[in-house]
Amino acid sequence: MTDANYNKQLVLVNAAIPLVWLGYDAFTGGLGANPIEFFLRATGVLGLIFLLITLSITPLRRLTGRNDLIKVRRSLGLIAFAYVCIHLTTYFVFDRGADLGSMLGDVAERPFITVGMAGFVMLVPLAVTSTNGMIKRLGGKRWQRLHRLIYLIAIAGVVHYYMLVKSDISYPLMFGAVLVLLLLSRAFLTRPGKPKSEARAVSIQ
Ligand code: HEM
Repeated sequence: MTDANYNKQLVLVNAAIPLVWLGYDAFTGGLGANPIEFFLRATGVLGLIFLLITLSITPLRRLTGRNDLIKVRRSLGLIAFAYVCIHLTTYFVFDRGADLGSMLGDVAERPFITVGMAGFVMLVPLAVTSTNGMIKRLGGKRWQRLHRLIYLIAIAGVVHYYMLVKSDISYPLMFGAVLVLLLLSRAFLTRPGKPKSEARAVSIQ
């Protein structure tokens, strides 16, 4: 197995651990008094964490010069998508009784659901175009431009979180602070050997 494949599998196995743990707790009654709410919230937080880890790859590459990190970025983005899909499915099935009309009504009615759904809708084209074939079909530049949506998606995730908490806003603020740092690093960390303007022009990487 090549190093790149080994690293991807290592990322996938580690990313699956919280899900296996949640599944185990769900089956053994370890999710507390309100298991659905716990599961929904945990998968939301995991989706957001993996979005932020995906966004940290470019600054990490620029800081460390470890360009091979790029090879796990796509897996990380897809893991974020998978957690958000599980999050949305949990909400759809258990909160909305698998009723599409009820879900769409809720999307229209509750602003934090509208923002979460906007994040999900933007994630779909990124997941669909994550294959090598799609990168070729779209062309590198267009693909990169489309994949910059990930910043907007992470902002939607943090705003969604901020809007739904009732009293203690410290967690959404912490996620927001990490996101601001990642956005700033995009502006200030240039690629080694490249002028700043050029680095800005090319990169969702
Ligand atoms: C990018 C997409 C999304 C991200 C990153 C995300 C993230 C989160 C986070 C971090 C939480 C809070 C967890 C906590 O309280 O500890 C949450 C809760 C929640 N999310 Fe999402 N979410 C996303 C999309 C959605 C979508 C599409 C829906 C439904 C249409 C949704 C419905 C909910 C609900 C119902 C809750 C729980 C609210 C409550 O307990 O009062 N989310 N989400």
